[in-house]
Amino acid sequence: MNERQAKVSIIGSGNVGANAALLTAITGAADIVLIDVAEGLAAGKALDISQALAILGVETKVEGYGDYAYTAGSEVVVITAGLARQPGMSRSDLLHKNAGIVKSVIGQIKKYAPEAIIVVVTNPVDVMTYLAWQETGFPPERVMGMGGLLDSGRFVYFLAEAAPGVARSMVEALVIGAHSDEMVPLARLATAGGKTFELLLGQEALANAAEKTRHGGAEIVGLLKTGSAAFGPGAAISLMVKAILLDEKRIFPVCCLAQGEYGQNDIYLNLPAIIGASGVEGIVELELNEAERDALAASASSVRAMLKELE
Ligand code: 2OP
Repeated sequence: MNERQAKVSIIGSGNVGANAALLTAITGAADIVLIDVAEGLAAGKALDISQALAILGVETKVEGYGDYAYTAGSEVVVITAGLARQPGMSRSDLLHKNAGIVKSVIGQIKKYAPEAIIVVVTNPVDVMTYLAWQETGFPPERVMGMGGLLDSGRFVYFLAEAAPGVARSMVEALVIGAHSDEMVPLARLATAGGKTFELLLGQEALANAAEKTRHGGAEIVGLLKTGSAAFGPGAAISLMVKAILLDEKRIFPVCCLAQGEYGQNDIYLNLPAIIGASGVEGIVELELNEAERDALAASASSVRAMLKELE
């Protein structure tokens, strides 16, 4: 077998980038290049991860560099580079600073990996993914963001915690819309073993799990004080990358371009999408009730407001 191993580049070697590298490497789906403007950080994390893989008996290669030339020919590029919100920094400051970072990363990707599928992680992810799509000029199926899968994972976690005896792996639950407080956990549609959580938990406990999900990221930031979630994001990234590289056609909520689906147009939102070798291969339209449609529209408006602020 001398077929070339697929290559994934992860831009930004902070906690999210490094966890994404480790968890993607464990899948064995691709060799990984970590890039960071702080060259030693990328190289150091890559060495640590490689040694972890040696302990686990995984053959995947992970390397770290400061130079984007090493991303050449990547099948997938994951963008985690950017600032996390610091004390005293407004959401608008973060928006403008991270937009600048994402634009400069996109310039490098267009130069070295013009055929890649891009997975944006930098926050606010719905806005940054739209920006990445515009700046690349790539077809929309090749530009997606990670948000809905993380939020759905959190919803699964809180639902399973609330329902003793229900295994996490049995829970099917989706969160769509913006990756923010305006997200839309689809509580009515959450099930385990074919039973709805309305039945399993009752309305109040179900609403409580949805509410916890909405603040899932903020709860972690509040506890860590100087950082945000990284293992959950890393896990979600690894599933998305694997689905692309192995052409799995799995359905995940990812941040993708709505072109009429759910009554939305010209906006990136987390919606259930078929993920395969071409990237976003289709958006799955669920039958939402009026309250859910209204919540999604409000969620979309919040993303539009941020996009407007960037103009
Ligand atoms: C999260 O939800 C910060 O987007 C990240 O944890």
